[in-house]
Amino acid sequence: LKVLSVASEAVPLVKTGGLADVAGALPTALAEHGVEMTTLVPGYPSVIARLGKAKAVHKWASLLGEPARLLSGRVGGQPLLVLDAPAYFDRPGGPYGDAKGQDWDDNWRRFGAFARAAADIAGGAVKGCSFDLVHAHDWQAAMTPAYLHFAPAKGGRRMPSVITIHNMAFQGFADAAIFPRLGLPQAAWSVDGVESYGGVGFLKAGMHLADAITTVSPTYAQEIRSPAFGMGLEGIVLARSDRVHGILNGIDPAEWSPMTDPHLAATYGPGQLARRKANKRALEKEFGLAKGEGPLFIVVSRLTWQKGMDVLLDVLPHLVGIGGRLALLGSGDAELERGFRAAAALYPGRVGVRIGYDEALSHRLQGGGDAILVPSRFEPCGLTQLYGLAYGCVPVVSRTGGLADTVIDANPAALAAGVATGIQMNAVDQPALAAAVSRAVDLYARPGEWRRLQKNGMKADFSWRASGAAYAALYRKLTGDVR
Ligand code: ADP
Ligand code: GLC
Repeated sequence: LKVLSVASEAVPLVKTGGLADVAGALPTALAEHGVEMTTLVPGYPSVIARLGKAKAVHKWASLLGEPARLLSGRVGGQPLLVLDAPAYFDRPGGPYGDAKGQDWDDNWRRFGAFARAAADIAGGAVKGCSFDLVHAHDWQAAMTPAYLHFAPAKGGRRMPSVITIHNMAFQGFADAAIFPRLGLPQAAWSVDGVESYGGVGFLKAGMHLADAITTVSPTYAQEIRSPAFGMGLEGIVLARSDRVHGILNGIDPAEWSPMTDPHLAATYGPGQLARRKANKRALEKEFGLAKGEGPLFIVVSRLTWQKGMDVLLDVLPHLVGIGGRLALLGSGDAELERGFRAAAALYPGRVGVRIGYDEALSHRLQGGGDAILVPSRFEPCGLTQLYGLAYGCVPVVSRTGGLADTVIDANPAALAAGVATGIQMNAVDQPALAAAVSRAVDLYARPGEWRRLQKNGMKADFSWRASGAAYAALYRKLTGDVR
């Protein structure tokens, strides 16, 4: 079974968040299930550089008005297609905006062109490329089912499509005025097409026209049926609920295993927790933290409202007051960045902050921290709590989305049964987070119980095995290739 996976970021080429981890891991996860997955990514400068010498397998004279080429290569053994369209993707900054974090105002056109190309490739317009199904990720790829439906490539064949929602908060909404420039027929301008609340809705179009909708945890699949989580698209989720599937993300053991992680001062397994001490000392040094009796909390996160980082700022006096310390790595909203910088100045030796993006440091934090804080207001899946579990860095999380599905709260029943893996809180506000932090500090003071939490997490299975099988079964059902 041949699947074209369409994603605006993928490890190891380009990453701003969890989508990249997932898109990068899927091909290997699915290979075991007889699925041959090729990933299509935009030709950002970093991607072109990484690809090296690659063959151009197709040319477009005009892709929504700009010339483009399709490059074919391999990275990390996986087949890769790269859309080389310099007018759209050869820019400094990030995949979606400039170096200051300001989104490009032609993103609708950049990712409209990306999806148009995906539909052409999937439909068979590129000689030598044939697929049985196309799997689009997030709004940046979500127009693919719309092009397949309303404007298939000449001579192209119909094919099933899947859209995965990694985050409902990013819907790719554009002004109605751009509709004529998308190269879609007038028929697409309707509630049964790409129109959404009077504008063009990229994610909406994908959700409406794909043959299946998946999202990245069972709980989030339920949550998006309500306005608070569906964020305006709950109506489609409800109307198409028989086609909505919650499939939990896994983690890639090649990237995230404490036994082999090259970023760690000391590698370790569940039976060698004492070895983590060297990693913790290294972190304390790196973040200028004083040694202490209490736990070292860590954060690796986008600094945004979604992630509850404003609440964490409010809880810092309490965290420090009861003997906790914090090492934080993140970037995002300017106000939150300022807030955490100020906190580090206010609590020297207790709070250490790195503003920026640093893959290696994110591994070192998981390998040396005692507990990772993930107080998200919503979290479709969340990967950092999974990395925390795998690394014996106990997750302290809110009970939402994938956080609810992956962490077993250390309540009396779970502690008695010996199955707890972390701490959950029911609300994302100052009292709830303060209470969760207090619970962590109390548990940490009982080393036997704490080690039990760590070991349970490290032994839990967050591999792609089950989810890879679930995606493969879905693809087979949609293509009629039932084994
Ligand atoms: P989201 O995709 O919503 O940001 P996830 O938890 O699914 O949340 O994925 C975030 C990914 O990005 C993880 O791999 C995490 O380690 C990584 N990450 C987030 N912020 C940083 C940062 N400042 N530096 C390095 N890695 C980061
Ligand atoms: C999104 C979500 C996150 C999820 C990731 C990968 O960025 O915010 O919860 O883990 O996608 O699916």
